[in-house]
Amino acid sequence: MKNSDLLKITEDYSSPIYVYDSAKIVSQYKRLTSAFKQVKNLRINYAVKALSNINILKLLHNCGSGLDTVSIQEIKLGLAAGVPAKEIIYTPNGVSMIEIEEAVKLGVQINIDNLSILEKFGTLHPTIPACIRINPHVMAGGNTNISVGHIDSKFGISIHQMPHLLRIVENTNMNVNGIHMHTGSDILDIEVFLYASQILFDAAKNFNALEFIDFGSGFKVAYHENDIETNIEELGKKLSKKFNDFCKDYGRELTLVFEPGKFLVSESGYFLVKVNSVKQTTSTVFAHVDSGFNHFIRPMFYNSTHEIINISHPKKHKRFYSVVGYICETDTFGSNKRISEITEGDILAFKNAGAYCYSMASNYNSRFRPAEILWHNNQAHLIRERETMDDILKNQVQVSLS
Ligand SMILES: Cc1ncc(COP(=O)(O)O)c(C=O)c1O
Repeated sequence: MKNSDLLKITEDYSSPIYVYDSAKIVSQYKRLTSAFKQVKNLRINYAVKALSNINILKLLHNCGSGLDTVSIQEIKLGLAAGVPAKEIIYTPNGVSMIEIEEAVKLGVQINIDNLSILEKFGTLHPTIPACIRINPHVMAGGNTNISVGHIDSKFGISIHQMPHLLRIVENTNMNVNGIHMHTGSDILDIEVFLYASQILFDAAKNFNALEFIDFGSGFKVAYHENDIETNIEELGKKLSKKFNDFCKDYGRELTLVFEPGKFLVSESGYFLVKVNSVKQTTSTVFAHVDSGFNHFIRPMFYNSTHEIINISHPKKHKRFYSVVGYICETDTFGSNKRISEITEGDILAFKNAGAYCYSMASNYNSRFRPAEILWHNNQAHLIRERETMDDILKNQVQVSLS
């Protein structure tokens, strides 16, 4: 998107505000599917948690994507977006059997990630197809908060528990139609991914009625110029070959599934904020913006770094700034970043703001969550209103305290 388009959006809809460029989402979808064009049956299930606005779900479904969901609410959002239940997979972690039963009634593909639920599910629903999430115990992923395949992780059924898992499957005579892994986000090295996939292939041989193998996600995107990203094309070539070889041995054409979130939407997003003040201290120059980690938590939560651009004056001489928010705790978006000289009132754009940004926003400090704009066919479409005081008060129940 051009800086002038972004600036016009802040003039028309104010700040802070999220903007998503639909063309980037579509091009990332096409890039991924074309990297795996050697696989006959490929399925992409967009991970709703990354960015769950219903218009984004519709956009990706129009591209051919299904959905990966982790809560009953995400399933309902997907259905409301018009995605059929059979194109939705539900991969919860640590939820109750009650929620799983609700998902069964809605008709989505269930993915089970612990032995006790597996046994309950197999006993109650031996004929309903279920996928099983395996934890291959491969240390992958960036920050430890997003690395989920390791030995201490709460996710999936340990590969070391395979004998126990198989006894449950045999005893309940349940129908296992898929096998799944997700080892973490921001995987830097495709060899790690391929190594984990081999563990999954070996595990898959234990089941004779599989329809798909789901390799989860974790593709890393570039956060700044020259940053490493997952080499999707190379992964496509190598994993497709392994997958096709596996299908030949298995004796059936299975579907290869991925469930990317960040890869599809991260780079499409811009978070636009206005500089309220520039404050020089003894050691630092702070640019205080009209937002905080309540709107954009990733830098504080897992040290993510986002490029920050002064789109009001992109050509001015660059200086060092720490860009900080208004929350009354440490609230740093970026420390000592080189940004074109900032004056109060300038608009800053945070890049890579598509994934895990709005979806992790909160009302902390009783602030309103921002509006969201979809930039589609060279036009700005408001896809979520900025909250108001009514939203803050909506569910509060005032009682008589006299
Ligand atoms: C089970 C599962 N699948 C897919 C994803 C999406 O990961 P990413 O956004 O790195 O593509 C996640 C992210 O946490 C996940 O937990």
